[in-house]
Amino acid sequence: MRLLQFCVGLFTVTLVSACGENFGDIIWVNEDDFVPPDQIYICRGHHEGETLIGTYFAGENTKSCLVSQNNRVIELESFEVLKCAESGIWTPVLGNILPSNVFSFDGEKIIHACRDVNSNPTIGTVKKATCSEDSCLEKSVCEIVVFESKISKIVSLDRFTVFTVTNTMIETDLNKNSENYSLKEPLQIRTLSFNVKAKEQITILFKSDAGKLLFEILIGGLQNSITAIRKGGYDMFSNTTHTMSVLEEESFMSFWVYWEQGGLAVGRADKYLEPLESTNAMITLRDSGVFGITKYSVKSSLPTSWNFWL
Ligand SMILES: *[C@@H]1O[C@H](CO)[C@@H](O)[C@H](O)[C@H]1NC(C)=O
Ligand SMILES: *[C@@H]1O[C@H](CO)[C@@H](O)[C@H](O)[C@H]1NC(C)=O
Repeated sequence: MRLLQFCVGLFTVTLVSACGENFGDIIWVNEDDFVPPDQIYICRGHHEGETLIGTYFAGENTKSCLVSQNNRVIELESFEVLKCAESGIWTPVLGNILPSNVFSFDGEKIIHACRDVNSNPTIGTVKKATCSEDSCLEKSVCEIVVFESKISKIVSLDRFTVFTVTNTMIETDLNKNSENYSLKEPLQIRTLSFNVKAKEQITILFKSDAGKLLFEILIGGLQNSITAIRKGGYDMFSNTTHTMSVLEEESFMSFWVYWEQGGLAVGRADKYLEPLESTNAMITLRDSGVFGITKYSVKSSLPTSWNFWL
C-alpha cells in the first residue's frame, strides 16, 4: 500500500510539471492518480447519461465529486479531476453573456463550469433558467451544490463566473511593444482578465476605437511596490496604492480590470475565483469616461509574458 502511494505520488509530480506555462493544455486525470494539494478542484463524470461537472473534495479517507442533477445532490462514483487548472481562469459573466472562450467540458455537448462571484467555493454547471408560468427569458444560471451546517442543497445563481481558457498570449519587452488588441463586444464585456509573469512595472493601456488613450493602469511600478491608474493625457496618476511584490518574475499572477458606469476597478484574482465587487479591488477610479473603451494594449520595460482571457 505504502509503495503504491509512493508510486502514485511520483507519477503525479511528473504530470504536474508537464502543465504548460502558456495555459494551452487541459489535463484530466483519473481520480486514483490524483494527489490533491490543499485546493478545490473541478471534477467531471457521467450519471444517468449526462456529463456533470462538480467540486472535488478530498478528506483524509474520502475523495468525492459532488454534482447536481435534476435538483438532487449526487456523489459520483467514478470521475476525473482537472489537473492543470492554470489552463483556465474564472471570468465573470455580465449581462448573461458568456465569454467567447468559455471552456466546454464535454466534446459533444456544450457544458460549462461555473462558480459564485462571492466566497462560495463550490463548482457547478451553467444551466438554462427554468421558465416561470408567465415569462420565459433566455437566461443562464449557475447551478451549484452548497453546504450549510452539514446539509447540502442546490442553489441557482444569477451572478457567476465561468471557466475560460486563454485566447491571447503576448510577450513584451523593451524593444517590442505589444500589438493593439480590440475587445470583443466591448459594451457587454466590460472586463479584462489576465495573468502576467514580470519582474516589475507593467502597463495596460485602454483606448477608444479611434486609438485615443483613455486610461492607463500601472501594476508593480517603483520596483514592484505600487499600482496606479491614470487618465489618458495626464501626467499625474489619479489614484495610487501600495502593492508590495504584486508581480513575480517566475510565476504568473492573475488580475482583472472591470469597468462600468462611473468607474474602473483593478483587482488581484486567484485562478479559481474572480470577484467583481470593487470592494475586492486593489485600486479604483471614479470616472465617467469609461464607456469608450474598445481596445487595449500592453507595455512592459522588461521581458514579460501575458495571458489574456476575454
Ligand atoms: C498601436 O496603436 C498606436 C496608436 O494608438 C500606434 O501608434 C501603434 O503603432 C500601434 N501598434 C501596432 C503594433 O500596431
Ligand atoms: C483609490 O482606490 C481606493 C481603493 O479601491 C479607493 O478606496 C479610493 O476611493 C480611490 N481613490 C480615488 C480618488 O478614486
